[in-house]
Amino acid sequence: MGESVLAGLIGDDGADEWQVRATCHSLARAAELRRIRDVEIEAIGAAPDANRRAAAADAVIIAVPPDRVLDLLEEISGSLRPGAVVVSLAAGVTLTQLKRSAPAAVAVLRALPNIGGTVRSGITGIGAHDACAEETLRAVRRIFETIGTVRDEQLEALSAISGSGPAYFYYLSEQLSAAALDLGFSAEQATRLAEDTFVGAAAALRESGESSGELLRRLATPPSATIRAVNALSSVGLKDALLDAAAASAARAREMAAEAEPDGPR
Ligand SMILES: NC(=O)c1ccc[n+]([C@@H]2O[C@H](COP(=O)([O-])OP(=O)(O)OC[C@H]3O[C@@H](n4cnc5c(N)ncnc54)[C@H](OP(=O)(O)O)[C@@H]3O)[C@@H](O)[C@H]2O)c1
Repeated sequence: MGESVLAGLIGDDGADEWQVRATCHSLARAAELRRIRDVEIEAIGAAPDANRRAAAADAVIIAVPPDRVLDLLEEISGSLRPGAVVVSLAAGVTLTQLKRSAPAAVAVLRALPNIGGTVRSGITGIGAHDACAEETLRAVRRIFETIGTVRDEQLEALSAISGSGPAYFYYLSEQLSAAALDLGFSAEQATRLAEDTFVGAAAALRESGESSGELLRRLATPPSATIRAVNALSSVGLKDALLDAAAASAARAREMAAEAEPDGPR
């Protein structure tokens, strides 16, 4: 995900508007990124390290696995400039935890992008303390607008829809591929058919400017084969299954936040 944000900030023209500098965990990853992204990238372990980067930054985006975020923040906290902004991408690491690991003069925020960000069609939820300056929020929104749209809705609810949503889609695609296998297609044909069908349908939805409901009602009209299929989906309770899935995802997100910080804001 860090690479996606990096790609968004650099843009297609490679303009250095943001003066992006990156630090990687491993030398191998730094070398790989340097090859594909025209940006100054260093690896921790190769001097100068993350602390020197942090000392020079107005904004630091932390895109390491959730269990590494607080250690990394503590490691660089002595170097952060007063007035700097730190944004963590980690799911399940709360604002209160971040604030505790950062100096008081630093603004901490959370950003939860989804996988669409890898192709600049992402949806990112932003979480900030009430005291966060509007100017800071605006700047962080602009950063994540480089990889898609930014939403201010409550993070746990948002993560159940836009965060977990791509997984619902991949799950449905995998099940459609199983149905194709059942109808006699080879495994390879089944996968391609299901994936190309969903990708094409998504592209048609975007192009048409109509809603999913409108396109569905246009395709699934009696006495078509499609209406019979849609009725079968409905009768086995797919609608309830999706409601349950989103509720389960939101509950898990709230649970992780509560485990991390029983009383604090997220
Ligand atoms: N993927 C998503 O769709 C998504 C969506 C929303 C939020 N997020 C959040 O974004 C963050 C990054 O996600 P990701 O999927 O990109 O994770 P990832 O691929 O597992 O890790 C990102 C990078 O962290 C570095 N890293 C691994 N172990 C480390 C350690 N012990 N110390 C320092 N750096 C370490 C790795 O660098 P090396 O390759 O150099 O080892 C890796 O390139 C996570 O906190 C995740 O919760 C991800």
